[in-house]
Amino acid sequence: MDGNGRWAIKQGKNRSEGHKEGAKTLEKLALHAKKLGIKILSVYAFSTDNFKRSKEEVDYLMNLLIYYFQNKLNKVCEQGIKVVFSGRKTPLSSAVLEAMDKIVKKTEKNEECILNICLNYGGQEEIVDAALKISEDLNKGIIKKEDLNRESFQHYLYQDLPPIDLLIRTGKEHRLSNFMLYQSFYAEIYFTDILFPDFLEKNLDEALYYYGTRDRRFGNIKS
Ligand code: IPE
Ligand code: MG
Repeated sequence: MDGNGRWAIKQGKNRSEGHKEGAKTLEKLALHAKKLGIKILSVYAFSTDNFKRSKEEVDYLMNLLIYYFQNKLNKVCEQGIKVVFSGRKTPLSSAVLEAMDKIVKKTEKNEECILNICLNYGGQEEIVDAALKISEDLNKGIIKKEDLNRESFQHYLYQDLPPIDLLIRTGKEHRLSNFMLYQSFYAEIYFTDILFPDFLEKNLDEALYYYGTRDRRFGNIKS
């Protein structure tokens, strides 16, 4: 969800205002995605590398996340959306972890669709963490070497979700920035210059239209 900071600066506001607006946009998009029948929406809320930012910005983002999990995501919960998280726990504060835990518990029985929030998330970190869990299970004899393949590896990721069909990168950059590297191996990638707070429901429709025009061959010749 890139472009919050630049959106704010463009309007003569401080970066925090951009994050606030981005959070509102996410709420709208999650509800719209559900309405369209999208079963899984993963969003990149905060990367492991975002901890390199100033303490002030990190603190603001963490408090905003807590605020959203405690208040604003209620609508999302009432709409039957199940919230899950991907990422490492350390070094998140106990306040953030508690707020995450609460929303997970509150929505765990929801079945309409899944909102996977990547928080303190890194794609390479996820693969490393999966490899560590696999090596433990190999040592304990829970799995056998010959059972390891690209599908069974997926079960060891933070969330056992299917591969990504469409990956949307807002905010002008043309890179993955360590987002769901394992799961995006055949993702159709949609780049847009729109800064995240300006990414409206109709823009999601446009991205989906683009997706619909793609011929997905998965390495084969004809789809
Ligand atoms: C993305 O917006 C949101 C987070 C990383 C939390 P940015 O903060 O990266 O915004 P820009 O790229 O500076 O505009
Ligand atoms: Mg950015």
